[in-house]
Amino acid sequence: MKIIAGNWKMNGTKQNLEKMIQDLSNVETNNKIILCVPFTMLCTESGKIGLGAQDISMHTHGAYTGEISAQMVAATGAKYVIIGHSECRQYHGDTNSTVRAKAELAIANGLIPIICVGETMDEKQAGKTMEIIESGVRESVPSDISTPIIIAYEPRWAIGAGLTPTSTEIADAHTLIANTLTDMGLDGTPILYGASVKGTNAAEIMSIPNVGGVLVGGASLKSDDFIPIITSVN
Ligand code: 13P
Repeated sequence: MKIIAGNWKMNGTKQNLEKMIQDLSNVETNNKIILCVPFTMLCTESGKIGLGAQDISMHTHGAYTGEISAQMVAATGAKYVIIGHSECRQYHGDTNSTVRAKAELAIANGLIPIICVGETMDEKQAGKTMEIIESGVRESVPSDISTPIIIAYEPRWAIGAGLTPTSTEIADAHTLIANTLTDMGLDGTPILYGASVKGTNAAEIMSIPNVGGVLVGGASLKSDDFIPIITSVN
């Protein structure tokens, strides 16, 4: 069983989501399917597909115009929320410490956070990939948690670029994350790979040790692209 999560980013409509849910209802799979969609689509009947948001506020409530709290997301019936995505780190200034604060609020409200870590191209070229990944996990993941969380390794330079790291690079990153989580008492936490996942590379990526599934951007928007990823593994 793998976790196949889609991140729709700022794309699609409620009608597109209803069609996707309909298309996915016919797919035979043991995998767990999650769709992280814009806030406006969260109140959609989704059957066995888990719905999630793509970010939450780091505040509980109050004068934060335009923001959406963990409690509000949970009240829609959504079960998941992506936290610390590369685009939120890049455009909204999320840091490991704000990611951790948001993850704590997600957990406190019964959501499963999908916490993203990964290196930029500059960090990769400076030979800092492993350092950034390990500090990302240690600083972004709350301590003393007893409810499930999910980690996503997303090399930031590869997102939406049609580029993927080598299998060895993915294996090394996932082993480091798994060992770090074990050291933090979070053995067995699923670790997803994300960035340029497609039907043609999904099976190979998910055969790499410690890869518990994938977080898919562009190829999660259309069922013709997403279903082959779901059915590439059991
Ligand atoms: P792409 O699959 O479009 O590269 O996006 C990956 C991503 O950012 C998922 O969160």
